[in-house]
Amino acid sequence: MTQDELKQAVAQAAADYVAKHAPAGSIIGVGTGSTANFFIDALAALKDRIKGTVASSEATRKRLEGHGIAVFDLNDVTDMPIYVDGADEIDAGLNMIKGGGGALTREKIVAAVAGTFVCICDASKLVDTMGKFPLPVEVIPMARAQVARELAKLGGTPVLREGFVTDNGNLILDVKGLAITDPKGLEARINQITGVVTSGLFAVRPANVLLLGTSEGVRTIL
Ligand code: 5RP
Repeated sequence: MTQDELKQAVAQAAADYVAKHAPAGSIIGVGTGSTANFFIDALAALKDRIKGTVASSEATRKRLEGHGIAVFDLNDVTDMPIYVDGADEIDAGLNMIKGGGGALTREKIVAAVAGTFVCICDASKLVDTMGKFPLPVEVIPMARAQVARELAKLGGTPVLREGFVTDNGNLILDVKGLAITDPKGLEARINQITGVVTSGLFAVRPANVLLLGTSEGVRTIL
């Protein structure tokens, strides 16, 4: 199977998960990226069964609306049973690196409201130790150089994502060379650097369910 076919298979599995576990009339949180896009396409078949969605990026909002799926402001939502999103890396504890698409902050905010985080990935994303994929960190523009110096003290090499501005008007530093053996501790340390908006480490709030696309089919890991 191609990587896209694996992504499509997990996206359909996530739509099936929503159909089975979300009460009728629910609001579903929707992530960002190529795997999330396949999920949006699969979710279109359920649009009369759900009340609507919350989008984790402007790109996701546009794609949802393109399918005629209602998109709500997160401030108007108190109950969201399920959030579905991809990841750049995920470990056996379901900690993740996210933000390859630059939507990490909104993804983390929407995930914080959700009851269950369903991560959808192809098998290449499951790793023993995270860090091979550079860790995205969203920073306030005026703090870019100072945050980069602080990140270097943690042992990484921060690289500015050229020509990229987040939906929140901020910049991304991609931090290379970290071996993430303590995901929760590192997430807390990075979050304490003044000028950091969010790191792409999702360990304080990891996924609850991983739907992993493999050539033998979709594996469910809890
Ligand atoms: C976007 C993300 C994505 O979930 C992550 O980059 C995975 O993307 P893809 O499904 O395209 O591999 O965190 O900010």
